[in-house]
Amino acid sequence: MQGAGQVVTRPGMSARAGEGSTVDVDPTNRDVVIRAIGVKRYYRQGDSVTKALDGVDLDVYRGEYLSIMGPSGSGKTTLFNMVGGIDSPTEGMVFIDEIDVAQLDSYELSWMRCHKIGYIFQSYNILPVLTALENVALPIIFSGVSPDDARDKAAEILTRVGLGDRVFHRPYELSGGQQQRVAVARAMANDPVIILADEPTANLDVRTGREMIDLLVRLKEEDNVTIISATHDMKMLDVSDRILWVRDGKVDRIEERKNLQIRVGRIGPEEV
Ligand SMILES: Nc1ncnc2c1ncn2[C@@H]1O[C@H](COP(=O)(O)OP(=O)(O)OP(=O)(O)O)[C@@H](O)[C@H]1O
Ligand SMILES: [Mg+2]
Repeated sequence: MQGAGQVVTRPGMSARAGEGSTVDVDPTNRDVVIRAIGVKRYYRQGDSVTKALDGVDLDVYRGEYLSIMGPSGSGKTTLFNMVGGIDSPTEGMVFIDEIDVAQLDSYELSWMRCHKIGYIFQSYNILPVLTALENVALPIIFSGVSPDDARDKAAEILTRVGLGDRVFHRPYELSGGQQQRVAVARAMANDPVIILADEPTANLDVRTGREMIDLLVRLKEEDNVTIISATHDMKMLDVSDRILWVRDGKVDRIEERKNLQIRVGRIGPEEV
C-alpha cells in the first residue's frame, strides 16, 4: 500500500458540502476519514444519461455517525458505493482514510476494502452454507490470519454482538435479527475504521431494529468506528451526529442532530 496513498487532511481546510448545507462546526478540529470532492456518477444508456450523482462534496469525520437520507432514486446507494470504494466516480475524487481511491490498483483496492471498511448490506449477504462462526472467520482468514486464530477472533466478535450461544448455527437456523447481527459481526471482522450500512434496519421489527442501532452506536463509542448508514428509519436519526440529505444526485443539506427539528411524521421542512 505504501506510496499508493496521498495525504489529504490539511489543517485549516474548510468542510465542503453542497450549497445550502448547514455545517456549523469548526472542521479544523476534526479528523476527516472520507473526503469526496466534486463526485459525479453518470450512467449512460444509448443517448440517455442518468446523473445518479451530480457533483457531491463531502467530508466525513472519524468516529461520527452519519445518516444518509433522501427520496428513492436520489443517489444514496450510488454515494455509498463511491465512499465505500465499491464503484468509481465518472468525475471527481474520493479519499478514504487519506488514500486517493483512484490511485489504487485492484489488489490495493481489495486490501483497503478488506481492512478499512466493513459493509452491512440490506440483504445481509451472509453465506447460507456456512455457520455464523465461519461467516465471520472467512474475511479474517482472507486478511492473512491463520484459520484457528480467525475462528477464535470470530467467536469473540459473535459473543460481543450477543450471539455467543449461536456460533455453530447456519443462517436458516437464526432469526432475521440474529442474521443481521452476524452481518454486523462480519463487518467488524477486520477492525474497520468505517462501517457502511445500507438500510440496516429495514427488515427488522422496531425492537430488533433498536438493538441493531444500539450495536452500531456501541461500535462508534467503544472503537471510534465511523458509521455511515443509508436509512429511512426515524430511530436512526436519534443517534446520528449528522444527517446528509440527498436530492437529485446532489447534497441538499447536512444537518447536525442538535439542530434537527423532529415533529410527528415530519423532519424539518421535509416529508419522510
Ligand atoms: N447501474 C445503473 N445503471 C443506470 N442507472 C442507474 C444504475 N444504478 C442506479 N441508477 C440510477 O441512478 C439513480 C440513483 O440511484 P440510487 O440507487 O443511488 O438511488 P437511491 O437513493 O439509493 O434509491 P432507493 O432509496 O430507492 O434505494 C436512479 O435514478 C437509478 O435509476
Ligand atoms: Mg438505494
